[in-house]
Amino acid sequence: MLILGIESSCDETAAAVLSDGENILSNVVNSQVLLHQKYGGVVPELASRRHIETIYPVVQEALDTAGVTLNDIEALSVTQGPGLVGSLLVGFSFAKAVAYVKKIPYVGVNHMAGHILSVFLEGRKPDFPFIALVVSGGHSALFEVSDVLTFRLLGQTRDDAAGEAFDKVAKLLALGYPGGPVISRLAEVGDAEAINFPRAWLDPEGFDFSFSGIKTAVVNIVHNFQKKNKSIVKEDICAAFQEAVVEVLVSKTISAAKHFHIGRVVLTGGVAANHRLRELLKKRGVEEGIAVFMPSPELCTDNAAMIALTGNYKLQHLPRAFSLDLDVYSRSSYCENLLVL
Ligand code: KG4
Ligand code: ZN
Repeated sequence: MLILGIESSCDETAAAVLSDGENILSNVVNSQVLLHQKYGGVVPELASRRHIETIYPVVQEALDTAGVTLNDIEALSVTQGPGLVGSLLVGFSFAKAVAYVKKIPYVGVNHMAGHILSVFLEGRKPDFPFIALVVSGGHSALFEVSDVLTFRLLGQTRDDAAGEAFDKVAKLLALGYPGGPVISRLAEVGDAEAINFPRAWLDPEGFDFSFSGIKTAVVNIVHNFQKKNKSIVKEDICAAFQEAVVEVLVSKTISAAKHFHIGRVVLTGGVAANHRLRELLKKRGVEEGIAVFMPSPELCTDNAAMIALTGNYKLQHLPRAFSLDLDVYSRSSYCENLLVL
């Protein structure tokens, strides 16, 4: 079975072809980073316009790379939400149109579920249940995952997402967009102990996060240095900031695994490309006897292979006719903390 995945929830237009639900034949990602860079963040209106321009060539490239044509595709899987509505609509309408014309099924997929299940696209795969930490530009959340369709929310950010904090701090330090990669690069040569940024533990028993406080702490440090005419060492700020964020993410994830007596954790989402986060989670996992799984950095950031894989599971386990009346959604919904798929 050949499935075409389409992703356009934020600023990446992506398409992928998978055979037998999990073998990646192609995985094309067109990033809009250069378009949004000068604004220091994603401009929704520009993002949706760019998706319109790129969706067709990106899908065509995915088909060509896989060595297939649209006539060979047996089902479509497309991100339905959460994300920017204007961006989501481009991929979703495209998928609906192809499904209608080609008379093949299409399925709408939750982007967070896609990030979590991306761990099944390659390498060592975890058994169920596992704890999943999803950290990206739009989300920071911990889930208990019991099977491919059951995601129980344990905690999430009460304000900024972890990636958003990286992006905002980078903007403040005039490092460009997106912030994560450049901050982690500078952090490698900075001193993480030069500044002691606050760790927002919140309720020590709970699994919620907060990253707006640390962002404000960075603002204050920068202003204090400027007032005293002292030059700031950006590398040190990056290293100390990164350490504070990573420490909270790792500690809460390991605590969740211990609390629920689950010996496996999965790390995913754009921020999961962060080297220090990967390193510390692996180290703590070894210390605590918890197996740590993480997709390679290319599959941690937004891509359509994860959407095709998730759609395939949904088609297998929740077979139903997907009406052309389906619509996109900007936020995930939950029923008693279970992600509604
Ligand atoms: O998952 P993703 O590609 O898109 C969303 O769904 O948001 O994540 C993008 C986010 C951005 O905020 C970016 O700064 C962050 O992931 N990111 C990183 C790194 N690479 C990307 N954050 C920290 N360290 C990195 N190496
Ligand atoms: Zn994402």
